[in-house]
Amino acid sequence: MANSKLIIGNWKMNGAIGHSELAKAIAEGFKELAAKNVEVAVCPPFTLLSLISQTLEGENVHFGAQDCHTVVSGAHTGDISATMIAEFGAKFVLVGHSERRANHKEASELIAQKAQAAINAGLIPVICVGETETERLSGNAVPIVLSQIDVSLPDGCNASQIVIAYEPVWAIGTGRVASVQDIEEMHQSIRGNLAAKYADAAKIPLLYGGSVNAGNAGQILSVANVDGALVGGASLKAADFLAIIAAAQSIVG
Ligand code: PGA
Repeated sequence: MANSKLIIGNWKMNGAIGHSELAKAIAEGFKELAAKNVEVAVCPPFTLLSLISQTLEGENVHFGAQDCHTVVSGAHTGDISATMIAEFGAKFVLVGHSERRANHKEASELIAQKAQAAINAGLIPVICVGETETERLSGNAVPIVLSQIDVSLPDGCNASQIVIAYEPVWAIGTGRVASVQDIEEMHQSIRGNLAAKYADAAKIPLLYGGSVNAGNAGQILSVANVDGALVGGASLKAADFLAIIAAAQSIVG
């Protein structure tokens, strides 16, 4: 994905009806930027998918959900399937976010099934991986993340069907960002791992996530093999999110 960037906002469990104003402001700001080679999406909570799909109709900003079930329909109280998400016109769905791995005990095997369900529904799964602080300090961050990748990707998928987001768990929502060297090492290792499996591995977008903001986005997005960002906190303010998009544009525009 050499000459383009993908910026995805993860709104997490934040969202009131007023967030359609946020989506509108992002769409309008994005239009004004007239960014070339930058793709943008927001991932609101399920309850806002309908509203945001209407708000973004005819706009260049895509949207997605934050999780999906492994099957299409059935007796799964409280769950939402990828097919249901796709019906709203969503493009993406996050799977395996570290908050779901930690809070809902989601393992990589389950995440591969969710990613497959997303692909079957015509969505692009954004498959999230990342090491904890203890794992980073142990010196094993790279092999740990690569083993998450080995298990979390569905068999037989191709480059155009998936996005991968590397998010060090200790950098999420903490204001601490991995160093440029660590990001570069991890993304290069992930790319190498993918190249052994996919002929078109170079085309798989590899996003970095974890405390990306308007101030650090330019530096992070300039790192080799970083094709975009998954943004939490800074995606809840239109001006901040648009500044990240502008930083992406200044790199690829
Ligand atoms: P953050 O969240 O940008 O607030 O660190 C990123 C994420 O969890 O995707």
